[in-house]
Formats: sequence, C-alpha cells, structure tokens
Amino acid sequence: MSRLIAFVVILAAIVPNGFSSVVIKHRAKSCYEVKEYLQANENGFYNLFDSLGSPYTTYCDFESDTPFVWTLIESFSLQEAQKTANRKGVYVNHPIGECILSWSAFRLSRLRMDTIISSYGTTHYRTTCNFNYVNGTGLANRRDYLRGEICRRSYFHSTWALNRYGQPTYICNYVDYVNVRGTTCRKCTVPFVRPTSSVHEHIDLSIAASHCSKFTPTDSISNEDVFGHYGNANPLFSCTSNVNSTTNWWLGGAYIAEAF
Ligand SMILES: *[C@@H]1O[C@H](CO)[C@@H](O)[C@H](O)[C@H]1NC(C)=O
Ligand SMILES: *[C@@H]1O[C@H](CO)[C@@H](O)[C@H](O)[C@H]1NC(C)=O
Repeated sequence: MSRLIAFVVILAAIVPNGFSSVVIKHRAKSCYEVKEYLQANENGFYNLFDSLGSPYTTYCDFESDTPFVWTLIESFSLQEAQKTANRKGVYVNHPIGECILSWSAFRLSRLRMDTIISSYGTTHYRTTCNFNYVNGTGLANRRDYLRGEICRRSYFHSTWALNRYGQPTYICNYVDYVNVRGTTCRKCTVPFVRPTSSVHEHIDLSIAASHCSKFTPTDSISNEDVFGHYGNANPLFSCTSNVNSTTNWWLGGAYIAEAF
C-alpha cells in the first residue's frame, strides 16, 4: 500500500499535467470557487480568472456572513459614488481600479461581473457599508445591509421597461433582507430605482415608504437614496456618513461543501 502511494506521488511530480497540478491550477472564476477548489477560508485579495482566461484580483469574504461566500464587484466612497462619471448602472461596462485596488474606487468590468454571475455557486447579490473599515466583523448586526437573490427578477445587468408614461421608474424588488439604520424587512419587496447610464442601482426611501412592502426606516431625509446612488445622502446611513464612507457590492452564494 505504501509503495502505491509513493508511486502516485512520484507520478504526480514528474508528469507536468498530473492530477495534483490540475487541482492546483484550477482557474477560479469566483470566490466561491476559490473556497471550493483551494479550500481558502481567510478574507483577503485573491486572483480570479474571467471567461477569457485573464487573471485579475479582487477581495473575497468567506468570514463575515457564513455560510455565504462573497466576491467584491464594486466599492465606491461617497465622494467617488457621487461623481457623474461613476453614476452608472452595473449593466454599463465601467471598470475602475482593476490594477490599483482601492475600496474608494473599484469596479470590475462587465465581462468579469458576468463571469462571476454565471459561475457555479453565485445565487445572490449583497450591499454592505464600510466593509474595509469594519474589518469584516461589524456585519454581525447587519446594520445598513442589503441581500437578495439574483433569480428573483433579473436585477443584475438589466434595465427594465419604462413605465406607461415612458418615464424612468422603479420595480418592487423581492429581497431576502434589507436593513437601514436598524429598521429591517425580511422576504419583502422594496423599490429599486431603474438603473441607467447616469443612475446606479439603489433604493429610494421616499418611494419605499409608500410602495411595495412599505419599508419605512426612521430618521429619513427627503428623497433619501441608499445603497449606491446618492443624489440625497443622509449622514445617518453608514454608507454615507462622510465622504470616505464606502458602499460595497458583492456577488455570492451559500457555500455547501461537496460530499466526496
Ligand atoms: C481585524 O480583525 C482581526 C480579528 O478580529 C484582528 O486580529 C485584526 O487586528 C483586525 N485588523 C484591523 C486592521 O483592525
Ligand atoms: C477622508 O480621507 C482622506 C484621505 O485619507 C482624509 O484626509 C480625510 O480627512 C478623510 N475625511 C473624513 C471626513 O474622514
């Protein structure tokens, strides 16, 4: 038996495309695959590969939200999110900072987002505030947090139809969980404003109060925007508490270990 093991190890070492190197060389398309194939468990920056086989780096969160594993697709500080150049729905290809990783101005290309969306294990999107500052541990209370399923409405990479007056509008989007200043709603609908080439995905709280599941956080300001587009930003919302506060968008899913 021990002779057989020795033979296998030597074979793996001398055959360039031996079994062991195939495992190590798996080109992970998402953080979920990083966990699946490389058994990574520690948060940090990891190399992923897009559908063209090009490598790039982004942040993987394995720790804050178990069993979920999340791949960072975008992060903007309030200051950057409010710049006209960055106010774009995620369906617009607008890569930023892919080589200079910064939580204040980072967004993957459309191709890379699409690769993550279509990879095994991606079922949800998530929005967090100040993930870089809270060190992954401040999410325990889920304050100022949004999570929804991608298959419930094709929310990502779509611009839905205009309303019957031909005006930009919103849809009542079903979410798993939304938390604004501690007011929460589970498995409910909230109005997502239609993304355009000058409006990022977000929730308008003034519409939310009277539409869909009537989500009504306390201490709102007039026409308050949360989770991405900040025409009217409230300092009491942690993604917009100061110019350096960040809004982080993620794609991921609940990790289920394969039974071998
Ligand atoms: C992040 O959290 C870990 C574990 O709680 C801690 O050891 C580490 O010092 C923290 N890092 C920063 C930059 O706060
Ligand atoms: C934002 O960050 C910059 C650069 O680190 C710093 O100089 C500035 O004081 C910060 N502003 C606030 C309000 O935290």
